Amino acid sequence: MNPTSIKKRNLSGTTMVVFGASGDLTSRKIIPALASLAEQNQLPSEFSLVGVARSNYSEQEFRNLVLESAANSEAMEGIIDQVHYLKGDYNQLSTYQALSKLLESIEQYRSTGTSRLFYLATVPSLFGTISSLLGESGLSSNPPVGYSRIIIEKPFGDDVQSAETLNRDMHTSFDEEQIYRIDHYLGKETVQNLLALRFSNAIFEPIWNRNYVNNVQITVAEQLGIGHRGTFYEHAGALKDIVQNHMMQILSLVLMEAPATMDPIAIQNEKVKVLSSIEIPKVDEVCNRVVRGQYHAGVINSDEVRGYREEKDVDPNSGTETFVAMRLAVDNWRWAGIPIFIRTGKRMPKRETQVVMEFNRAPHLPFVGNSARQLGPNRLILKIQPEEEIKLVFGAKVPGQEYNIRSVAMDFSYSETFREISWDAYERLILDAMIGDRTLFLRSDEVIKAWEIVEPIQKAFSDPGFPLYPYAAGTYGPKESNKLLQQSGHYWHNSLARLTRKNLDIDQG
Ligand code: NDP
Ligand code: BG6
Repeated sequence: MNPTSIKKRNLSGTTMVVFGASGDLTSRKIIPALASLAEQNQLPSEFSLVGVARSNYSEQEFRNLVLESAANSEAMEGIIDQVHYLKGDYNQLSTYQALSKLLESIEQYRSTGTSRLFYLATVPSLFGTISSLLGESGLSSNPPVGYSRIIIEKPFGDDVQSAETLNRDMHTSFDEEQIYRIDHYLGKETVQNLLALRFSNAIFEPIWNRNYVNNVQITVAEQLGIGHRGTFYEHAGALKDIVQNHMMQILSLVLMEAPATMDPIAIQNEKVKVLSSIEIPKVDEVCNRVVRGQYHAGVINSDEVRGYREEKDVDPNSGTETFVAMRLAVDNWRWAGIPIFIRTGKRMPKRETQVVMEFNRAPHLPFVGNSARQLGPNRLILKIQPEEEIKLVFGAKVPGQEYNIRSVAMDFSYSETFREISWDAYERLILDAMIGDRTLFLRSDEVIKAWEIVEPIQKAFSDPGFPLYPYAAGTYGPKESNKLLQQSGHYWHNSLARLTRKNLDIDQG
């Protein structure tokens, strides 16, 4: 039995209420995750689902939608009688009064408590209103047996001030312990493995600092464009969509100190500490440290793809960035002086999320002539997706009479090593919220710290004179992003691969 199924035994009867029942996130992520949990017999034995939205569905129509989104999973069909729909406007108190009655009738015959999990999979501007009205209608208080919890999805505000307002609004109805802020990157196995790698091995921590690490590179590259989310993306851009949340989470796990235990508070404390140590750039310095770009038409996998400004619901003169690269500095004992490079972009050559720890070169090479010319620095490459791998790059002797040294790689692959099924992030996070395990959720102060780092960049971007460099779809962003690193003699991991591919057996990306 795996640990999660042991935890499941403690789950009381639960009703999950999804605000945004007719939306994209619900059909693409939440329902498939529930279906998969049902298949694996991981849902509480008395589980009900209530969808709330404005769309005029009958209960049967909503059930059909759920079955469709669950790819007609048999397990979901088994619990479809426990799926309900409530039509209502989130701004009206009457919606919550009707919800309260529906929940009471669902829970009437339950012997295992009245646990309620409210999932706000809807427009973020309504988060404050929904949580206030849940409070006003008495739905936010923890019942004597069971719980009342609320899950919210990023973005958590638009800047420091609005994030603080959202926290305050939510806290008027829910205690911090009842609030589960999802960053789905924390639900990814390989992101969690960053902690396992660092803190379950004795060999990495001693060299995980400024004495041995030369620079750190974090890349979240997406091959996809913005799909049908033009309206959303025009407002967000890469900085708010990916950097403020997913990248800050990866970065804090890579750079934080060791927590004393895996207790959620211990981990969150360390994440907040390292986020607090990141140097906040001054608005007028941003142009020296940050490059933003926007994709134009190009070719990916031999297919021609349109440019960002030609996408649906995008302003033909849009100034929204689809690419950001930046150099960050951490003002603490462990990382002082070490550049941390991060970048993210849409329409890049391939989907690739990875962390590269690049180590200092050997202080002296005793090999004669040019024999070690092809030797790159040691690197530890933590591939988060789509392949889930860890790769250590080091020098090895090429067979032969002479001492020719070449970079080679030692690989660990998740899929080749483990036979256990890797859970989808949403499965893991939804189950953890039911269990009450807050380790993989964000605390209010983490969110604020991440906004504090991003806000000056946001302000600099709002100046129409701030450069927005074009890049062709299917490339690794504007060349200015390479220059950002070259200023200090560094190279993006993939750029180095391109420059030297002829000479290297490794580093295909
Ligand atoms: P959608 O626009 O697809 O869905 C919005 C939902 O909210 C619909 O069900 C809509 O109902 C409902 N709704 C909106 N206003 C009201 C209202 N006043 N009263 C009642 N219902 C209302 O949004 P997404 O699913 O894309 O996004 C949801 C959340 O998830 C957002 O916070 C987003 O940032 C986040 N997110 C989304 C991701 C994605 O891939 N989609 C990825 C990561 C996060 P109706 O249509 O019936 O009016
Ligand atoms: C979401 C962003 O949070 O993450 C999307 O809103 C992005 O724009 C997505 O595509 C990436 O998630 P993943 O899991 O596919 O890397």
